[in-house]
Amino acid sequence: MGTASPRNIVLTGFMFTGKSSVGREVARRLGWRFIDTDDLIVEMSGKSIPEIFSQEGEASFRAIEKRALEEACAGERAVISTGGGVVLDRGSRALMVRNGVVVCLDARPETIYSRLHAAAKAGPAAVRPLLSGPDPLGRIRSLKESRQPFYAEAHWSVHTDALTPGEAAGEVVRAWEMLRWRLSSAVEAAPASADGQAAIVTTSTQSYPVFVGWGILGQLGERMKEAGLRGRAFLVADAGVWPHYQQKVLESLKSGGFAPECYQVPAGEGSKSLAAAQRLYSWLAVRRAERG
Ligand code: S3P
Repeated sequence: MGTASPRNIVLTGFMFTGKSSVGREVARRLGWRFIDTDDLIVEMSGKSIPEIFSQEGEASFRAIEKRALEEACAGERAVISTGGGVVLDRGSRALMVRNGVVVCLDARPETIYSRLHAAAKAGPAAVRPLLSGPDPLGRIRSLKESRQPFYAEAHWSVHTDALTPGEAAGEVVRAWEMLRWRLSSAVEAAPASADGQAAIVTTSTQSYPVFVGWGILGQLGERMKEAGLRGRAFLVADAGVWPHYQQKVLESLKSGGFAPECYQVPAGEGSKSLAAAQRLYSWLAVRRAERG
């Protein structure tokens, strides 16, 4: 059994939906590695993609592509941008879903065509052997339609037509933050995971992990950062417990780049009341606390 939650973000989608530029930006925002499987293929084969297609054929390209994907998915904390045809292989689809949150970037055929056109003017990097025939727009339409059921297997989709790469990257990060814990439900009953994840709490609107372990409090800031959180952090603590851990928690959060504030709930049974909950919610409301 793997780790308790998805370890990577995998971007799928048709050619010219922005997987590479968006992926690079997502990796930058999360502080992760960026891997482009097309680049890996070139590296592994020592040939350009058009050369592989023309000299060895598509089947050979797909075989190299599968190996490149396996290599990319073997690590963690990577944003992996895949080639548009990677979804054709059933095993590759299963591999992606097992190893990451899979986000499909989509765009209308006309948008794809105009991006292809613009890129072609910029240089030879735009060459896509599968679109090089006489009617590229017709080819985009038919190829995309035939692949649509496979793209639909992604956990999430982002329509990029009207988005800048930065905006699309924001949507991908949002999908990651929202889905990473929900998708771990499949391994909820797994034996204790190496990172100390003990349970997943699923509510009607979101899910979150619970970590249990000796001496892991000092990792709080780092783990929250890894989860894609940032900015302010609101802590709710028992007033009898807080003084003992205050220093460690605040230091950890600050070193993770968070701005922490703590609400202390008076110790004891008296705090288990609606009035106490109301005081807490008012405290959060005044601070305009929301899920970051
Ligand atoms: C392909 C997409 C290309 C590249 C190759 C084949 C496809 O990658 O892998 O030309 O079959 O859709 P991009 O999707 O990054 O353009």
